[in-house]
Amino acid sequence: MSKILVTGATGTTGQQVVEALLAQGADIRLGVRTPSKVANFVERGAEAVVYDYDRPETLQEAMTGVDRVFLLTPFNEHSVELTKTAVQAAEAAGVSFVLKLSAVGADPEAPGGPGKSHGLAENVIKASNLAWTMLQPTFFQDNILNFQGASIKGQGHIYGASGEGKASFVSAGDIGRAAATILLNPEPHHGQSYVLTGPEAFNNQQVASMVGEIVGKPVTAINLTPEQYGEGMRANGASEWMIENMLVLEGIKAKGWAEAVSPAYTQITGQPGEHMFDYLSANKARLVA
Ligand SMILES: NC(=O)c1ccc[n+]([C@@H]2O[C@H](COP(=O)([O-])OP(=O)(O)OC[C@H]3O[C@@H](n4cnc5c(N)ncnc54)[C@H](OP(=O)(O)O)[C@@H]3O)[C@@H](O)[C@H]2O)c1
Repeated sequence: MSKILVTGATGTTGQQVVEALLAQGADIRLGVRTPSKVANFVERGAEAVVYDYDRPETLQEAMTGVDRVFLLTPFNEHSVELTKTAVQAAEAAGVSFVLKLSAVGADPEAPGGPGKSHGLAENVIKASNLAWTMLQPTFFQDNILNFQGASIKGQGHIYGASGEGKASFVSAGDIGRAAATILLNPEPHHGQSYVLTGPEAFNNQQVASMVGEIVGKPVTAINLTPEQYGEGMRANGASEWMIENMLVLEGIKAKGWAEAVSPAYTQITGQPGEHMFDYLSANKARLVA
């Protein structure tokens, strides 16, 4: 059986990739900075290895003996350089296939934001000797819990600067299931880029209404100007890079550029995509104080 390395295995998406691979009995190695964080996965048969972009020598060690890699770079200003480092390590270690977690709208010609950096990183992989597939998810359903959970619980508010703009939010669970399907049988997916979305698009007020229905109390969306949104992030200690990139993302949502629904998840897995209401309902405990 081919060994698969999952990078970012402690994060929102990586954990879901691991769950889906373990459910299929795959032979997996988890690239992590802190092995104790994945003790539960190791008990269930995964192997853990230290993989730290800040210590590039760990990458080739982690990839030695691995055939396929789920490649995740953290959301920061170094993602293109990190991808170069990872690709060099993969080639040196004899990896044959990389599945990159990219983003919808990845385009090296984009004026800026995550679309541009993911587009440039995709090009690094495309120029390598590795076979590849790109997963290009839209906004995660999980963002509502991870980034709005505290204000939903504390104030009954969802904050944004995207107005009435809708996004076809996808669950990290679906990304994990699509990734596992591809990693277990990559050949039919070589050279393909898949936009992953949920089955329906929502704006922030519609998300707030859904959350309100689930938690049984009113939840409203507060629409900020980009300046107010940036100031709020700055007051919470966000870097200027993070503010700039988050404002690009809010702008994409505001313009309706993240509204389209893609059939790719169902084409890859044969299953319907997870609906946002079902995802939020299943995670109700994280939305109530
Ligand atoms: N959120 C969205 O709506 C969205 C939409 C489309 C695409 N994306 C893309 O998804 C990616 C982020 O995925 P995610 O949300 O699943 O990530 P996440 O939850 O933020 O987790 C980041 C992962 O990267 C690891 N990591 C951080 N720094 C590292 C380093 N120096 N060396 C090795 N590992 C490191 C973290 O490990 P530790 O546990 O050690 O910190 C963690 O496992 C980004 O590329 C982003 O552009 C996100």
